[in-house]
Amino acid sequence: MILKTIVDVLILVGAVGIVWGLKRQSSPDTARRGNLIAAFGMGLAILGTLILPIEGANNNFMWILGGLAVGAVIGYFAAMKVEMTSMPQMVSLFNGLGGACAVVLAMVEFYHFYENGNDPGLGAFAITMFTLFVGGVAFTGSLLAYAKLQGIAWSEKLGIPRHAILNMFLLVTTLALMVYMAMQGQELGFSYAIILMVLSLIYGVSFVAPIGGADMPVVISLLNSFTGLTAASAGLIYDSQVMLLGGILVGAAGTILTVLMCEAMNRSLLNVLVGGFGSTATGGGAKGTGDQVAKEVTLNDAAIQLFYANSVMFVPGYGLAVAQAQKVCKELDDILEANGVEVKYAIHPVAGRMPGHMNVLLAEADVPYPKLLDLEDANSALPNTDIVVIVGANDVVNPAAKDDPSSPIYGMPVLNVWEAKNVIVMKRSMSTGYAGIQNPLFFHDRARMLFGDAKASLQNLVSEVKGL
Ligand code: TAP
Repeated sequence: MILKTIVDVLILVGAVGIVWGLKRQSSPDTARRGNLIAAFGMGLAILGTLILPIEGANNNFMWILGGLAVGAVIGYFAAMKVEMTSMPQMVSLFNGLGGACAVVLAMVEFYHFYENGNDPGLGAFAITMFTLFVGGVAFTGSLLAYAKLQGIAWSEKLGIPRHAILNMFLLVTTLALMVYMAMQGQELGFSYAIILMVLSLIYGVSFVAPIGGADMPVVISLLNSFTGLTAASAGLIYDSQVMLLGGILVGAAGTILTVLMCEAMNRSLLNVLVGGFGSTATGGGAKGTGDQVAKEVTLNDAAIQLFYANSVMFVPGYGLAVAQAQKVCKELDDILEANGVEVKYAIHPVAGRMPGHMNVLLAEADVPYPKLLDLEDANSALPNTDIVVIVGANDVVNPAAKDDPSSPIYGMPVLNVWEAKNVIVMKRSMSTGYAGIQNPLFFHDRARMLFGDAKASLQNLVSEVKGL
């Protein structure tokens, strides 16, 4: 009785730790501590579950501790070694393992059902099927997402023509099998559970196959929410409140992130899932399109403008990540600030290729958080900004999103950089960004192009400014 009370308290405190930690992760200032609190809460919940007195259970502590030790060592070294830019792959891999756990749990339950004759009732049977199906999709879908992002998959888009029809066929077949299994009960054998597992694993691959590499962050977040749902349903099977709570939190957080990313791109989830646009950026080195010609600025002129400005706003984008230019950007920022220039950074929610991409890169370069302005604050500050320096951003500063109803990104919230007094655009050519569309900003009266790799251009600017 006392042990049961201790376990309940441990699990309750663990649950509070997980929720509190998650809350603190909503701000960069408190995220690190939040992560530790959530990990501590998770540790308490695991401890409580381990010592939970279960009648007739053979707890197999050696197996459990062995598994924990192997997982902890692999997790520790993987997390220490991973590059910030490879975070989506890592999340995807861990997520896939969560899906695999759900598959194993469900298969054990099916074994008890078919081979040992344990009948948990129709409700629990349905929940087990759900856990197997969604866990299987999350498992193979996440592994394929990992392979695509890591460049292991031989092509970004592996879909076949009319892939959506194939997916619909697989989905309907799997659902029909589930209904049949529920109706027939124990009259069927364990082999039906194996068929359901194989179908779920195939559907996971087929679901992710047609989606382009650059849409992967949205899909990974969606698969993350799937894994959360399976953890919650496994919590129902095992009557474990902490599993239910953790699963619901992961499921809800993954769903909210998916919706926010789609909203920030002004695209529906369906459009992302059937491969709307992206990863096919066209254009070349030409410095104009049609009769429009973009005006260039020399390094020396750019350096003088920056040196004598009152306020400068950097707008980092995917090109900053490609060029790994965050540290040299901070170096230029330091020199300008030492000269009395007020320097800020405008962060668009979907700049780069993963949620928080720019925040992570700038944090790596020790840019203080208060210098980072979100979309709304940046747009309010832009009309009073002397110079905007766009470092490898394109779609997130495209005015077509505001004033061209025929544009595929029309309606997407963008940074109104053209409202600043001067705009310098750093990129290598006139190539398009992720959405594959031209950017009228480059031909705007106030915009000047500084062609070249972002890191090299910033390094050159640092030298020029130092020489003034
Ligand atoms: P993009 O629109 O993709 O443009 C990036 C630009 O960087 C390109 O035009 C490219 O032009 C330039 N670039 C590439 N390498 C460079 C280098 N070494 N030096 C200098 N410039 C370089 O980037 P963005 O403005 O950050 O927008 C992000 C896009 O990704 C949005 O459309 C968004 O919807 C999408 N997306 C975002 C996410 C998340 S969660 N962030 C997820 C999926 C999709 P050059 O080739 O001419 O240099």
